[in-house]
Amino acid sequence: MLAVLLPVLAYYLGSVCSAILICRLWRLPDPRSVGSENPGTTNVYRLGGKWPALATFVFDMLKGMLPVLLAIYLQQPELVVALCAVFACLGHIFPLFFGFKGGKAVATAFGVILALEWIMGLALIIVWLAIMKKLRISSVAAIVTVCLAPILAFAISSPWFMSITLMSCTIVLRHLPNIRRLWDGNELGT
Ligand code: G3P
Repeated sequence: MLAVLLPVLAYYLGSVCSAILICRLWRLPDPRSVGSENPGTTNVYRLGGKWPALATFVFDMLKGMLPVLLAIYLQQPELVVALCAVFACLGHIFPLFFGFKGGKAVATAFGVILALEWIMGLALIIVWLAIMKKLRISSVAAIVTVCLAPILAFAISSPWFMSITLMSCTIVLRHLPNIRRLWDGNELGT
């Protein structure tokens, strides 16, 4: 029973689109209608600066981390933990509560990876921050970091290699509009 309930819970939690809710709370415009039109940390930063962006990042990270930690705590089989990881990201990307139009799941994936392999998760966040500091283009930081994730997972023989690879591929696909803008030389900064 838990094997079904936990991934469903992960999807429901993932479906809570914090960028939209936090923008409402801060009385900011809907992040789906301005900037990159992506309901995520970066676009919230563009709209409201660091505090609402930080709140969005932390919330999105926690909603990835908590269901995975719960599945591990309840000693669920690896497959169930992996499903929780993937379903949390899918909830963020295709949110039940917001017309199935969500974000790109970068922060949610960070939370998931912190729960699965915390050292690797920290390393990835540091890489992301370093690229952001240097380039100030969030999509580049995200694409490089999520491409690095399966390589690191493979290098440390992580049992979560497959789920991390699946999440990474999904996130890169979600960045196709960004890749197009980067190619055209008109990607948005922060
Ligand atoms: O986390 C999303 C980021 O990688 C790109 O955001 O708003 O520039 O599409 P944005």
